[in-house]
Amino acid sequence: MNRTAQIGGRIPAQPAPRNASEPADRDGCEPADSVIPGAGPAPRPGERATVRLRDTGAEEPPRYAPEWLELREPADAAGRAHELLDPLRIRLANLPGKAGLVIHDLGCGTGSMGRWLAPRLDGPQHWILHDRDPYLLHFAAVASPRSAADGSRVTVETRRGDVARLTPDALAGASLVTASALLDVLTREEIDTLAVACTGAGCPALLTLSVAGRVELTPSDPMDEEITDAFNAHQRRGGLLGPDAITVACEAFSERGATVQVNPSPWRLGPDEAALTAQWLRGWVGAAVEERPELKARAERYLQDRLAACRAGELHVVVHHSDLLALSRPTGGAS
Ligand SMILES: C[S@@+](CC[C@H](N)C(=O)[O-])C[C@H]1O[C@@H](n2cnc3c(N)ncnc32)[C@H](O)[C@@H]1O
Repeated sequence: MNRTAQIGGRIPAQPAPRNASEPADRDGCEPADSVIPGAGPAPRPGERATVRLRDTGAEEPPRYAPEWLELREPADAAGRAHELLDPLRIRLANLPGKAGLVIHDLGCGTGSMGRWLAPRLDGPQHWILHDRDPYLLHFAAVASPRSAADGSRVTVETRRGDVARLTPDALAGASLVTASALLDVLTREEIDTLAVACTGAGCPALLTLSVAGRVELTPSDPMDEEITDAFNAHQRRGGLLGPDAITVACEAFSERGATVQVNPSPWRLGPDEAALTAQWLRGWVGAAVEERPELKARAERYLQDRLAACRAGELHVVVHHSDLLALSRPTGGAS
């Protein structure tokens, strides 16, 4: 992996996700036992598919592999709910002061949200990219967007920290809060904290690509539903919200006076997305088996069949997500 980032700089070369002597097949599907470390739909603290910062044995947050974030970025971009952009633009256009937008992207990873959104908004923008992982923040800074829709300058700074502890003060002067693929790895309390911070600062929030807990595989298989249920249960481990995140976020924001709008933002994966589909399948089935170990033998056969169909260009998958726009009542503090 060392593709040019869409805008701005480059995401630096990453260590190969598999043994260099083990070629990916011609359809882009990796060999069956090849998993990108840190890939997967929803790594969990202390659990699988993560790369440890330190091998202390202590419970620590997962690190998401930049390779995985890069692999999903085009599907994310294609899935995002464009319908939310006009109401957002109208809100931003009505903000007091014309000094430019200040946008906080929470759980930014390598910065895919900014690469998608910055060129779709007019006017100068300053993006503040938040993540707890300094390694990902480095990539986000290197491959940051440079110009807005109208050619205005876009600048970026990074902030390392826990976004689950955000306060209204931290958002003073913010024009917009964004997040992508974050809500479903938060708890109810963390989403409440986020809603308090955004509504307290009078700041709109565009919170995208939360898993909806539904997938459609074509052709279908009798095991699809069993794997889906086990995966969803895995996502809800330890109080994390998984597929409940959107409902909880809607409640948290509307209880605090915000107007919320939710639109679908599905991944639509076909033969052209075979590499992403294969990695997603491994993470999805792997989490299901972790949740229900008794599925192991049948799930392994299921996975091999699904990967074979993926390699043959015969598998289509829709992974449903939701995007949420929450328009808080302005407080006069937003820039
Ligand atoms: C699934 S990744 C999504 C990354 C990026 N937004 C994207 O769409 O490609 C989730 C990101 O949120 C970050 N993250 C999760 N919980 C966090 C927290 N409590 N504080 C700060 N960052 C967090 C992770 O480090 C990771 O970069």
